[in-house]
Amino acid sequence: MWRATVFTLFPEMFPGPLGLSLAGEARARGVWALETQDIRDHGRGKHRAVDDTPAGGGAGMVLRADVLAASLDAGLAADDTRPRLLMSPRGKPLRQARVHELSAGQGAVLICGRFEGIDERVIEARSLEEVSIGDYVLSGGELAAMVTLDAIVRLLPGVMGKEASGTEESFEGGLLEYPHYTRPRDFEGRAIPAILLSGDHTKIAAWRKAEALRITKERRPDLLGTMDGGTAPKK
Ligand code: ADE
Repeated sequence: MWRATVFTLFPEMFPGPLGLSLAGEARARGVWALETQDIRDHGRGKHRAVDDTPAGGGAGMVLRADVLAASLDAGLAADDTRPRLLMSPRGKPLRQARVHELSAGQGAVLICGRFEGIDERVIEARSLEEVSIGDYVLSGGELAAMVTLDAIVRLLPGVMGKEASGTEESFEGGLLEYPHYTRPRDFEGRAIPAILLSGDHTKIAAWRKAEALRITKERRPDLLGTMDGGTAPKK
């Protein structure tokens, strides 16, 4: 079973959306497991403080290295080899290729930051891999952890139906997906492209490839121009 352990100051946020739909059903069937660890259990003093003012001054609060380290050390077995992902806008952008790697492993540890940051020393000392889900700032890592888990879990064996066993969807061929159509044949005066109704599967495949390329060039030219179409993790 693929195992996720989430370290957070807000364990009540989980499973949240991961308890429903595809991910929730897969969890109920025992395809994957989700465990949360409350970082505050290792807070200091009467008030279980987890953060403090930044060394050198400045705004905001920083999560203490000793608190997070204690939480990780208590919550993970010494021989746990799962990747430890620290959700952070400073991290390496999450890409579908990394999602595939993570889903092929035993599981993952996801650490959710809050406040202005996390003491750098615990990132180094506990070999945390900083991961970003996009170039914008969330108020905490919890939503980023949920996004990451959703992307991973849907790829686990037996979670998705035959629909997109992965290979035809966006990013999988290094391109964004081609447009889809279904009934009715006429929608507010807009027809389905005739080629899709022709029954000529060779032509349909060529049309889809060309559309995928056109849309990718238009919206995400950064995905083009690499041998792998941009699916490999960027250095
Ligand atoms: N925490 C705050 N913003 C984030 C982002 N963009 N990605 C991952 N974790 C975050």
